[in-house]
Amino acid sequence: MFILFKIVHDIAFFTWDMSLTVVNLVTPSRREGHVTPEGHPGFGGKWPEFVPPGEGDSRCSCPALNAMANHGILPRDGKNIQFKEMGRLIRTTYNFSPSFCYFVPNYAAQMLGKNYNKDTIELKDLDLHNGIEHDASLCREDLALEPDQSKPHEGYIKELLASATGKDKDGNPLLTIKDLSKYSSKRRADARSYNKDFTLDFVHRMFGSSNSSTLLTIFGGRIKDLETILLEERLPEGWESRVRGQMGLTLSTFNPTTVWPVEFGISEKKYLAEKAAQSPADRDTTTISSSVNKLDTTSN
Ligand code: HEM
Repeated sequence: MFILFKIVHDIAFFTWDMSLTVVNLVTPSRREGHVTPEGHPGFGGKWPEFVPPGEGDSRCSCPALNAMANHGILPRDGKNIQFKEMGRLIRTTYNFSPSFCYFVPNYAAQMLGKNYNKDTIELKDLDLHNGIEHDASLCREDLALEPDQSKPHEGYIKELLASATGKDKDGNPLLTIKDLSKYSSKRRADARSYNKDFTLDFVHRMFGSSNSSTLLTIFGGRIKDLETILLEERLPEGWESRVRGQMGLTLSTFNPTTVWPVEFGISEKKYLAEKAAQSPADRDTTTISSSVNKLDTTSN
């Protein structure tokens, strides 16, 4: 009976998501400067006051949710958050589609064994290892080495942003799909070699690429904005989502245009081979060959 319900639910969900994609295709995009809806925090680029988290406040491994709490869009203490409310606020803050804003909080509720309609969470609950949180993140050290997953890893973030090869029309640096694949390859191979508890199955590889792909879509890959969002977990003054479709970013757009190209461009083997070729004199051949050996049969 449960399986039948799940099949019907999933078909209904993907039909809904696809129909929102069609609406986006046939309706004009929101005007620049008018992406955040009137009457909601951030309208006109005016975000509520930024206050960094204090003692006892709950924060998590997700920079986008932490930023919402730091601006008081989610409760500032990061606690007593209803799943539906979280989805509604993600919709107005980042312009993800209603389908995404239902799907992810609903997935989180199931992962935590909570009732999507009735229960509440605090942000820290989302750090359940290998729930959505996983090893080889771009903005956090692995949980086995850093139990506090709310802490941005400055070194990784700066290295990621410095790796940007794109340029916008004014010559400002932009992160690209290739940049994300390349840096993810490095993070996965490096973390695999030094974290003895390292795991990353197919589902978590896809989560990793989904999360990081928001840097290119919602945040438009703009390095200047990403510095503020990732390092301070703050929304820059005047910022609005770079996704302008009326119905927001659907999964049926997000996955084929960004998430899958990022994920399928990741190759730990290629990264290790390039690393070995770049500095033959100083390379630690033992580490590199042991890293290659550690690559499981399913990784690239
Ligand atoms: C209810 C909705 C959401 C949930 C439950 C959620 C949960 C998470 C979790 C658990 C992580 C840590 C994954 C890891 O270990 O790397 C994460 C990372 C991340 N999320 Fe979210 N998130 C949500 C919404 C969003 C939204 C709306 C955005 C973008 C606007 C976003 C952007 C990111 C980014 C950029 C990362 C960092 C990826 C990395 O470090 O590799 N998330 N999210």
